[in-house]
Amino acid sequence: MEDRVYIRPATRDEMRALVQLIDQSIRLTNANDYSPDVINRTCLLFTEEKLVECFFRRDVFVAVEGLMIVGTISLGSGKVQNFFVAPNSQKQGIGEELLNHVEAHAIEIGLMELGVSSSITAMPYYRKRGYKLLHFEEKDDGSTWALVKSIQKKN
Ligand SMILES: CC(C)(COP(=O)(O)OP(=O)(O)OC[C@H]1O[C@@H](n2cnc3c(N)ncnc32)[C@H](O)[C@@H]1OP(=O)(O)O)[C@@H](O)C(=O)NCCC(=O)NCCS
Repeated sequence: MEDRVYIRPATRDEMRALVQLIDQSIRLTNANDYSPDVINRTCLLFTEEKLVECFFRRDVFVAVEGLMIVGTISLGSGKVQNFFVAPNSQKQGIGEELLNHVEAHAIEIGLMELGVSSSITAMPYYRKRGYKLLHFEEKDDGSTWALVKSIQKKN
């Protein structure tokens, strides 16, 4: 990853910018794996109001490049949540930096394992990074794969 990209906790004011990033990411990156109807319904779930609500319940991080937010990830209920990188910034290692960051944070707060309900699109991505497949979760608003990874503090 380029040095100019760094990861930090998000601020409440940034939830509006995340709406657009998440919308683009779902429409461009997840579109091959879900019907247009499911894509539209999923996008409608990520309103500013919903993200602000999540902001107060989860630990939300952003990847920043210059003045732009190029990615986001959250930790909530022992799970990786809302993991998205802007389409133009994908395949540069920003996702991996975000995932490593949230795993380190999870270890820091004492978690022993980390779960995720992964998009069909991202399931191979998690498997390559040590997440074990549990089961398929069939849902009207976008089916997902449940995965889990044991995480431990390195001495
Ligand atoms: C999943 C997601 C967050 C990954 O973000 P990303 O920034 O593209 O992730 P990375 O750059 O770390 O890795 C993506 C691929 O690019 C490769 N890559 C990384 N740096 C690269 C580089 N400089 N040149 C070429 N390829 C590169 C990685 O090896 C990886 O391929 P692999 O999975 O086959 O190993 C992103 O694809 C996304 O937003 N998807 C849509 C939303 C989604 O499904 N999110 C998951 C919800 S659970």
